Amino acid sequence: MEDRYKSFMAVVIIGLFSSCATSPEVDELNEKMETLQQQVADSYKPGFGEFMSIVQVHHEKLWFAGTNANWPLADFEVHEIEEIFEDLKQFHAERKESELLGMMDPALDSMDAAIGQQDTAMFRASYLLLTNTCNSCHIATEHGFVVIKTPDTPPFSGQVFLPEN
Ligand code: HEC
Repeated sequence: MEDRYKSFMAVVIIGLFSSCATSPEVDELNEKMETLQQQVADSYKPGFGEFMSIVQVHHEKLWFAGTNANWPLADFEVHEIEEIFEDLKQFHAERKESELLGMMDPALDSMDAAIGQQDTAMFRASYLLLTNTCNSCHIATEHGFVVIKTPDTPPFSGQVFLPEN
């Protein structure tokens, strides 16, 4: 009698579990979760090199902004560079190259100070330090063939680099 009662309860419990596990609501939730996981996996994330190509544009614009004493534009460009490096840390946290991004800080701080003080000589020195740091990281990450230098011409002919007044 006791054993029959036990096996009866076991059947009831298994029945309850299996009916829970296969209830339409749970199936629907599982399906939604799988769809969401797929969407996250398929969502677009720019690659490390794509972020770098954007950094390159702002690095070049920065030179023409600073050498034309266009300090508001120079300030904007250096902050764009800083933001992209922050994005790289966030979106490519798994890449070991991202651990080296901190090496840019002294050059960026120096550039921030030069722009704040509207000091052209300091701007030029900071730009050299910035560019050398780009190249140091390229060497450290086995991309020494990507050599960055001070640009000779503005990256776009359709933008004015002279200050407004
Ligand atoms: C943390 C290290 C690091 C720093 C700092 C860094 N880079 Fe890079 N850079 C890389 C790596 C790694 C690649 C190769 C990316 C890839 O795998 O596609 C790269 C690639 C590039 C490329 C090649 C893109 C192309 O298709 O030609 C350019 C341009 C570039 N970097 C510009 C810069 C500039 C400008 C700076 C400084 C303002 C800079 N990088 C700072 C690591 C760095």
